[in-house]
Amino acid sequence: MIYSPPSNTDRLSLPEAEPAPRGGLGDALLDLAHAVNLPGRALARLALSQAKHRSLAGHPRWALRLSRLLPFYDYPDDRFFRADGAPDDIEGRRRAGFARLAAEVRERHPNSLEFARALAASVSDVEFINAYRVPFQFRNRVRDELGVVTVADHSAGPQLRDLDGQWSYDLGGSYGVNLFGSDFYKGCIERGVERAKQLGLVLGPYHPVVADNVARLQALSGLDEVSFHMSGTEAVMQAVRLARYHTGRSHVVRFAGAYHGWWDGVQAGPGNPRPAHEVYTLQELDPRTLAVLDRRRDIACVLVNPLQALNPNGTPPGDAALVASDRKASYHKHAYTAWLVQLREVCSRRGIALIFDEVFLGFRLAVGGAQEYFGVRADLVTYGKTLGGGLPVGALCGRHRWMRRFRDDRPSDICFARGTFNSHPYVMATMNEFLRHLDQPAVRAAYVGLEAQWDARAAALNELLARAGVPVRVANMVSVFTTLYTQPSRYNWMLQFYLRARGLSLSWVGTGRYIFSHDLTDADYATICARFVDAAAAMQADGWWWDQSPSDRQLKRSVLDEVLAARFPFWRRRAP
Ligand SMILES: Cc1ncc(COP(=O)(O)O)c(C=O)c1O
Repeated sequence: MIYSPPSNTDRLSLPEAEPAPRGGLGDALLDLAHAVNLPGRALARLALSQAKHRSLAGHPRWALRLSRLLPFYDYPDDRFFRADGAPDDIEGRRRAGFARLAAEVRERHPNSLEFARALAASVSDVEFINAYRVPFQFRNRVRDELGVVTVADHSAGPQLRDLDGQWSYDLGGSYGVNLFGSDFYKGCIERGVERAKQLGLVLGPYHPVVADNVARLQALSGLDEVSFHMSGTEAVMQAVRLARYHTGRSHVVRFAGAYHGWWDGVQAGPGNPRPAHEVYTLQELDPRTLAVLDRRRDIACVLVNPLQALNPNGTPPGDAALVASDRKASYHKHAYTAWLVQLREVCSRRGIALIFDEVFLGFRLAVGGAQEYFGVRADLVTYGKTLGGGLPVGALCGRHRWMRRFRDDRPSDICFARGTFNSHPYVMATMNEFLRHLDQPAVRAAYVGLEAQWDARAAALNELLARAGVPVRVANMVSVFTTLYTQPSRYNWMLQFYLRARGLSLSWVGTGRYIFSHDLTDADYATICARFVDAAAAMQADGWWWDQSPSDRQLKRSVLDEVLAARFPFWRRRAP
């Protein structure tokens, strides 16, 4: 059942969330402010700062300022292998393991590596991701010696082939696009191109297939209107612009850590050179955020990326940030549903647009997307990635009252949105292939039990990892997995290279995210698991998880020390 705007104000509790506990200095100040009848503006300001997550993800302006102060330094040869203060024998094992991996990759992928190196010199995206695969102190040596294959010329089922004819399982999932398997998208593109080729490249007049896409999206989303865009980022831009237009309010609420594309207006913090304007970055799963939404008059919309349910208030997990073993992830559907219900209520009451950004998760959770899966309806929903059937796309669905771009009574008060390629005939035709596939009874039936199937797969992998005695586990939200580390280590990021050496291909965030396609067979999954466990066991044998390692806290403290010493020459570093 889909949750509609409330008729009563019964609040569900938030049993499993991790709200910052009340009772801190900020809460005391807020109570005091109420007691002494502080003026409304000051109270509102205080409430706003209370609704921010305490981490840097909750304070993007500070994160941006601090990011500019962080100096680069890298480890000399000895420190590279014993940044945790490990003894000689451990260092020796690590050196041998590193040299073996480097030799293996050179031997097995010479052509792919050469190609990748040439690409990195002239394609800025490749140059960038090569620099951000591991913590920066290690990056130069890793980049020079442990090359990463960033090229493929063939896919078959869940596997990719590189320029040396080596096949690997693709755990990168094409950034989430690959939901039904690479062969499926080849079919969509082939059939789509066939259907659209009579019209070819004609933009302006719509290909007739658009009407069927719209009807199907209306049915799937339960919303009235659709607009097409060229990327998820643009769909989000349009959703936010419409929310501002219809409410006449300025501010967007996004949640700490959530990614909504790379547009200035929603990307606050490091990565965007400008501090984001008119954006509040608030804490997800926290009643104080609801209080802010309930009170302020400047909020146009709330953006929700449901993928954050795996890692609330955390930035997307990437190995470049793996300084210790404190990566957190655990998915609680009940708590997140309760949160969305509460958001729905407050947004309805306050006339705020509730936007679900389903660009990433889209049709992964349910045929009707996150709205159906969590049973909560949004005012505007963005889709992208897999919806294009293999070609680039963004789409926005919404209720009439939010989607309209002009007013009958004020002809020059409009909300403009265009995009040359926005309903490209080939994209519309491949999208239609995708949407018709979704409508097949067998495909719909496969969604039943999907969650249980992937939970069981994650549990099976965890069981194997536990039995192998390695300090690695996975957490999942349906078919999106992340790696957790159960023992302190400064070297968890090395796992990505052991995984690659065993024929598991990862995206640039390394062990932070694996995205599986739903056509993956049990046999292929079993092979992936066996390789995964084998990789972790080899890494353990090479000494990267040292059982005398300093604690996570000490490891982070020592990195802070290094940073301060690099910044301020007078700073005296402590061990390790
Ligand atoms: C939730 C979400 N929104 C928006 C985007 C941006 O989409 P695109 O990369 O197509 O611009 C992404 C991309 O990963 C995303 O995950």
